[in-house]
Amino acid sequence: MINLHPMTDVATLRERARKNVEDGAVTESYNADREEVLRLLNASLATELVCTLRYKRHYFMAKGIKSHAAADEFLEHANQELEHADKLAERIVQLGGEPEFNPDLLSQNSHAQYVAGNTLKEMITEDLVAERIAIDSYREIIQYIGDQDPTTRRIFEEILAQEEEHADDMADLLDGL
Ligand SMILES: [Fe+2]
Ligand SMILES: [Fe+2]
Repeated sequence: MINLHPMTDVATLRERARKNVEDGAVTESYNADREEVLRLLNASLATELVCTLRYKRHYFMAKGIKSHAAADEFLEHANQELEHADKLAERIVQLGGEPEFNPDLLSQNSHAQYVAGNTLKEMITEDLVAERIAIDSYREIIQYIGDQDPTTRRIFEEILAQEEEHADDMADLLDGL
């Protein structure tokens, strides 16, 4: 039988782990393009932060017009987008990069846009559009990473699943108007 994926012997694994210990979680067998993965992670971090801010505005605006069901949904999403941002920032540091939190750069790095929206319908529509942008960009990132960086890929897969729920929630709210 031909072994297509021969395992690295223990001595080599140990020797490699000792070399470049300063690289932390990034070992010699990390075969993704680290700079590109970091760029994608930072663009996604910007997307999550912009989405957090947009949902926060929508939460307070909807509360003002006494749309409590929508307001609750907006707040839940704002909190979850912030959790996504934290996961991405944590992964950036693990890969030896720096998470970009400079507010001047956020909207230009973000995939999704910050559109304020005034009426409830405008707000929900903009949120749905932003979710759909996030879904498409995360799906592409997952395909790009392939099997080169399973941990980053898993993070994006978990976030993608939640963005799909968010889009579904917004579509339901829009239907109920
Ligand atoms: Fe998110
Ligand atoms: Fe979302």
